[in-house]
Amino acid sequence: MTKRSMTAAWSEDLATGVAALDEQHQALFRCVVELEQAAGERTMLSTCHALAQLSRYAREHFAEEERLMREHGYPGIELHIAEHRDFSHRLFELRRAYLDQDISSELITLLRAWLRFHVTTTDMDYVPYLRDIGHTLAEVVECRAAAR
Ligand SMILES: [Fe+2]
Repeated sequence: MTKRSMTAAWSEDLATGVAALDEQHQALFRCVVELEQAAGERTMLSTCHALAQLSRYAREHFAEEERLMREHGYPGIELHIAEHRDFSHRLFELRRAYLDQDISSELITLLRAWLRFHVTTTDMDYVPYLRDIGHTLAEVVECRAAAR
């Protein structure tokens, strides 16, 4: 793994303190690392695979978070869902652009920055809320992404 790729990996400052969510976030950041490596090597098949994998993990993880927030009546859900949709849209555009040209490192940097910002701000907002409700998140979060 290159030094630049290492910066795309999950780090402790991204920890929500909820093991299942952290495992899903780790899986997402691993997908970004794989995408960065595949795009850097300019291998079309592995880049397509990495893009598809990141899309699938993001879709599943976002759905899980949104289900959890809905289930517990989290008041910030609308903004949170809007951010998820923004990421999905960016990823969709990236996949479409890849049909015409190579993926630039700047685009991957933007994806990584978006994920870091989202996890350290928007995601952190719902963690204390869910804890206050008194639920053990490990019981209600299924860690589908990390289980693969
Ligand atoms: Fe989120």
